[in-house]
Amino acid sequence: MNAEKTIRVELGSRSYDVCVGEGLLAKLGGFVAGLGRVSSAAVISDTNVAALYGQAAMDSLAGANIPARLIRIPAGEQNKTLAVWGGIFDGLFDPHKPVDRDAVILALGGGVPGDMAGFAAASALRGIRWVQCPTTVLAAVDASVGGKTGVDHPAGKNLIGAFYQPRGVLMDVNTLKSLPAAELRSGLAECVKHGVIRDTGLLDTLEKNSSSILAAEAGAMIDLIARNVAVKAAVVSADERESNQRAHLNFGHTIGHAIETLAGYSMSHGEAVSLGMTAAMRLAAWRSLVGEADVNRVTGILSRLGLPTRRQGLDAGELWRIMQQDKKARGGKVRMVLPLRLGKVDIFDDIEPREISRAVESLAGQAGKESS
Ligand SMILES: NC(=O)c1ccc[n+]([C@@H]2O[C@H](COP(=O)([O-])OP(=O)(O)OC[C@H]3O[C@@H](n4cnc5c(N)ncnc54)[C@H](O)[C@@H]3O)[C@@H](O)[C@H]2O)c1
Ligand SMILES: [Zn+2]
Repeated sequence: MNAEKTIRVELGSRSYDVCVGEGLLAKLGGFVAGLGRVSSAAVISDTNVAALYGQAAMDSLAGANIPARLIRIPAGEQNKTLAVWGGIFDGLFDPHKPVDRDAVILALGGGVPGDMAGFAAASALRGIRWVQCPTTVLAAVDASVGGKTGVDHPAGKNLIGAFYQPRGVLMDVNTLKSLPAAELRSGLAECVKHGVIRDTGLLDTLEKNSSSILAAEAGAMIDLIARNVAVKAAVVSADERESNQRAHLNFGHTIGHAIETLAGYSMSHGEAVSLGMTAAMRLAAWRSLVGEADVNRVTGILSRLGLPTRRQGLDAGELWRIMQQDKKARGGKVRMVLPLRLGKVDIFDDIEPREISRAVESLAGQAGKESS
């Protein structure tokens, strides 16, 4: 058994720990009991994850003598709606056993049930405690830190929600064994992002351990997730004191989001961010912020992790139009996070349309061809 790792997310009185290890779902009951007075627990999960791990969570709570219910929501981003979210309250306020202020919500699953359960915790009785049990790489390395919760609206993703920190996060890496490979890779794109913005050691890890990471081996995952949580926690805590740090997490996401919007459901978030990071690295090299070797290093890691660095047929004009509508655009120019070197980034709000077109066009080029 590989040693567990704990990372503190420092947010003053709202600080909490993220524990990463093997078999942590079995320890869930004990963890919840340790929160103080607990009247009952409500495990909120999606249909896929509930079928795989719902019983383990319920057994662990029963073992700690905590009365618990399991509330299932349909899986998938298309169900991250106010309507589905509203249904969660029918489970919470079941007339036979309505939750009270001493109840605890447990979010079991990826970012979708995580965001929805967290927002339900923020809203039920104007706020009850919650604990997150992420089961995807994305939920573990990204959604488990920072307290963003919410749902989508037809007008856009995550438009409705609240900042509401969990009391703790238990990441059982054994759950990643059943995660579909495409979902695993999608989460790894955020890991590359964290490496570029703050931690070159993380880039070394991704290079050295790529095969054990892709096989979701427990030791490699504990190490990887702990390191990523530490990066995001540092950024989020720093942002409490000094604004703009959090914007660094948008590296690869300006062009990435536009590509994702254009591609619709044919591309995962991670794939779009991988292309967005490739384009941003090249743009930074043309501005002489980084060297060709840095660009090649990042694209090499992405390829090794099975993430795309090339895409034919992207319409630069259309992408520019989408970026202009994005809240990050100001006065005809686009705002982007670019590396000053690997491990350090800054925000640039003077990105010209021709730089974007050139970067987007470069994505149609040959693999490994980094020359301008
Ligand atoms: N709150 C935040 O700060 C934050 C950060 C990043 C992303 N998000 C949100 O997270 C969502 C995306 O998260 P996601 O990629 O985890 O999506 P998800 O929750 O939809 O999970 C992806 C798929 O994998 C399945 N799955 C999850 N865990 C599994 C497991 N262990 N084994 C087998 N199947 C499993 C799910 O049922 C689903 O079909 C988006 O809605 C995004 O907005 C939130
Ligand atoms: Zn992202």
